[in-house]
Amino acid sequence: MNMLKTIRAHLASVLVLFALTLAGIMPAVHTASAQTNGEVPGQALGLNSDADLWRFIRNGNAGDTQMKDQLAAVMIQSEGDNWRAARNGPVSVYGAAGVLGIIVLLAVFYSWRGRITIDAGPSGKTIERFGTIDRFAHWLMAGSFVILALTGLNLLYGRYTLLPLLGPEAFTAITIAGKYAHNYLAFAFMAGLALSFVLWVRHNIPSKIDLDWLKAGGGIFTKGVHPPARKFNAGQKIIFWVVMLGGLSVSLSGIALLFPFQTAMFAKTFGLLNMIGFDLPTTLTMLQEQQLNQLWHGIVSLVLMTIIVAHIYIGSVGMEGALDAMNSGKVDRNWAKEHHGLWVKEVDAATKAAKAKPAE
Ligand code: HEM
Repeated sequence: MNMLKTIRAHLASVLVLFALTLAGIMPAVHTASAQTNGEVPGQALGLNSDADLWRFIRNGNAGDTQMKDQLAAVMIQSEGDNWRAARNGPVSVYGAAGVLGIIVLLAVFYSWRGRITIDAGPSGKTIERFGTIDRFAHWLMAGSFVILALTGLNLLYGRYTLLPLLGPEAFTAITIAGKYAHNYLAFAFMAGLALSFVLWVRHNIPSKIDLDWLKAGGGIFTKGVHPPARKFNAGQKIIFWVVMLGGLSVSLSGIALLFPFQTAMFAKTFGLLNMIGFDLPTTLTMLQEQQLNQLWHGIVSLVLMTIIVAHIYIGSVGMEGALDAMNSGKVDRNWAKEHHGLWVKEVDAATKAAKAKPAE
């Protein structure tokens, strides 16, 4: 009998415990079902569910901030992942392939063709090709470009190439100095670019003889072939326009990087491109503008470097007599006749006319 009483008492306490436990669990069960209905438990985070809130943040939307820099209100800027992937991926890989590829190509070309010499041999007589101002403009542009290129390459590839070689201290010192050089020499480059444009644009208007020059491959592949050209041949005109337009583009994107979050060039450019059939986004955040600026600056610079390596080759080791044009400003007449025959005729005619003119 006593035993039956004890069992009943135990059963009762188990039942009470079970009821209490259920009462405790029920709000949790209710909460769980509320979450599955897309509502926030206890309305703690407002009316939005976590998913909506998370999506809002992941899409780079800005919340509110007491900070002066309103960009701090953006918690997650997902496009940053794409930017980093593009910079460290295709931009770096294809950029390196371009610059190293052209060096290999030129080495192959040099071993096959050798130095392009003056076919008729040097005449010993010279003709003035570039005045002091031309050479100043060229070397201002060229000198600053070379330093900008080297310091820029360090920003992109330095930590894979120089850092393991030099160690962190030396690499840091070089990179900081390089960054200052890059920021300030940009203005020397822009000045050289603008001056070269003003001085040489009239000689770089495309004309029909440029097509003949191109058809003959500029004569650089065959000894003894010299298609006619005026002051600048078609190859040089291409270099000129690539340097001017590329240089302008790299300057604008560089200024936008120097003074960040002030420009909206990409949204505006995309708007213009959409008028001719493109379908590009025209509402970009300031951060996206900045990322595109950085990528574009890198891409255009790497294309310019690739082309300039070829220019430096043909202006120095690749061709006998070419460098004199930018050193002393005077070139051998036979060199000039072979590479710029029509220009020599123009200069000679002008000199003759000036001599024939009676002194006043
Ligand atoms: C650093 C080594 C460089 C050397 C040895 C060099 C050499 C030369 C030479 C010899 C000429 C005159 C060609 C002629 O008489 O017909 C020339 C012209 C020119 N250079 Fe350079 N240059 C160098 C760098 C640069 C750089 C970095 C740029 C631009 C970023 C540049 C842009 C030009 C332009 C636009 C012309 C006129 C068009 C042409 O001849 O292609 N040069 N250069």
